[in-house]
Amino acid sequence: MSPIDKVSNLKIPQHVAIIMDGNGRWAIGRGLPRLAGHRAGTENLRRIITASVEFGIRHLTIYAFSTENWGRPREEVDGLMRILEDVIDRELAELNKEGVRLRHIGRLERLDPKIQEKVLEAIDLTKNNDRLNLHVAFNYGGRDEIVCAIQKILRDAVSPEAVTAELVSKYLFTAGIPDPDLIIRTSGELRISNFLIWQAAYSEWYITPTYWPDFDKGEYLKALEAFNKRDRRYGGLSENAKE
Ligand code: FPP
Repeated sequence: MSPIDKVSNLKIPQHVAIIMDGNGRWAIGRGLPRLAGHRAGTENLRRIITASVEFGIRHLTIYAFSTENWGRPREEVDGLMRILEDVIDRELAELNKEGVRLRHIGRLERLDPKIQEKVLEAIDLTKNNDRLNLHVAFNYGGRDEIVCAIQKILRDAVSPEAVTAELVSKYLFTAGIPDPDLIIRTSGELRISNFLIWQAAYSEWYITPTYWPDFDKGEYLKALEAFNKRDRRYGGLSENAKE
């Protein structure tokens, strides 16, 4: 059965979020510099975006650069910035044609102004697309997002009684985006790493030992199949247990 035949029998999550981990180890294992791993990871991301469009996923969030990644060696940080720029330069027209709407979560202001401008142009160019919303978490941290939200709530002089979970969600970078149904983490690490810490409250996790550059369409399909076997109870009881 082809991946697309298989997928037609599956319930497709509305929102998939991915921690694309293992690029460094993938490269080192091949005697290559870490940046070669990030380049290979970027090529893989391109394939996974196309697969997401094919599978009918509405929202895909990718963790591309965390607020903690600034602590990596200068060469690696600069390399990741260049990759962001290159992706926009080389892929934007094709992504636009595929119906991908590009969005950013995190703080743009620490990035080079030229890169900020490119990101904003890409967001503007694709703003009417509606096949796949691609949320790029770049200079993103879950704690930073919550701190920013609290600051905005206080600045808006919201009364304490009006602060509800719904209200907080509206102040996050992800306002208006449904919470992720499925979070995939590659390379086998068992931690959240400051990714969507508010939004992941009831997400299903799929963790695979595969390094990100090797996480192909077949692996993606396996993650969707595993998601289909989950019984999502949101702290309640499953239908069978209620009888
Ligand atoms: C984690 O692997 C990966 C990252 C910190 C960067 C992920 C970025 C990409 C795949 C590029 C996609 C890019 C954009 C800008 C859209 P790691 O380096 O922590 O791997 P390791 O744990 O094996 O060292």
